[in-house]
Amino acid sequence: MNLGYINGKFVQLDELVVPIEERGHQFGDGVYEVIQCYNGHPFMLEEHLQRLIRSCEAIRLPITETLADFRDIIFSGIEKSQMQNGKVYLQVTRGIAERNHPFPEVPVSISMTLKEMEPMRTEYRAQGVHAITHEDERWAKCYIKSLNLLPNILAKQVAQEAGCFEAILVRDGHITEGTSSNIYMVKDGKVITTPLSNHILAGITRMAVKESAEELNIPFVEKNFTVKELLEADEVFMTSTLAEVLPIVKIDGADIGTGSPGDITNKLYIHYQELKKRAMEVMK
Ligand code: PDD
Repeated sequence: MNLGYINGKFVQLDELVVPIEERGHQFGDGVYEVIQCYNGHPFMLEEHLQRLIRSCEAIRLPITETLADFRDIIFSGIEKSQMQNGKVYLQVTRGIAERNHPFPEVPVSISMTLKEMEPMRTEYRAQGVHAITHEDERWAKCYIKSLNLLPNILAKQVAQEAGCFEAILVRDGHITEGTSSNIYMVKDGKVITTPLSNHILAGITRMAVKESAEELNIPFVEKNFTVKELLEADEVFMTSTLAEVLPIVKIDGADIGTGSPGDITNKLYIHYQELKKRAMEVMK
């Protein structure tokens, strides 16, 4: 069953519970996480919650909750909703106060949705997806998982209108990341991805893929690369909590490599399934 949560109360998703003068609603003044559940187990939960706390600190949200408190909120949601395979969306905002730019002295608001989800379409996995490149029009603090997603949404919509799955963002000629994913190219057997900086989100799936590459003895290189290098890559793929490891086989209308998902991408996808299995064994 799908379920919502706000400040200690479970609610139906369509219940009207957010006051108009809520700062997430009026200013986008907050941060969030998306966590995937497999068989009722939230995958890489600690890592997601550590990032949530880092995001809160980065925008000076005065949370009193600890990582363990957030964990309890999520597990109580999973128990109540009986969710098996789906996503947890967790959001923290600067609370409810009269609309005024400076920080109010009110408690933060914590809300959450839990939704069962179908697995990704099998043809996306088997055949790969298409992408466009698009100017990165975001601010200079993309390491914060902020609610302000307007540039991401606008670029994703351009991609969708072009019949593509993702927009790959480009800043000063270099690839940063996708609108809601990290981006990788494979060249001569090496996985190459943009180094962590203010300009990208430190993806949790990126962390897992780095671990996989190390276990599989595939060189994992963190360095900047251009659109030209991307288009000339042997393979390209994206990662995110929801997409896992997903091949990108066409960019701006041009085939990448053979135009089919590549071997290294497939190996990393299979290894990701292995990491999920291992995590579920530990949580049993
Ligand atoms: N987005 N970069 C951006 C800009 C993202 O929004 C995301 C995830 C990622 C990948 O991060 P992770 O592997 O931790 O999911 C990278 C989520 C899924 C979303 O906004 O729905």
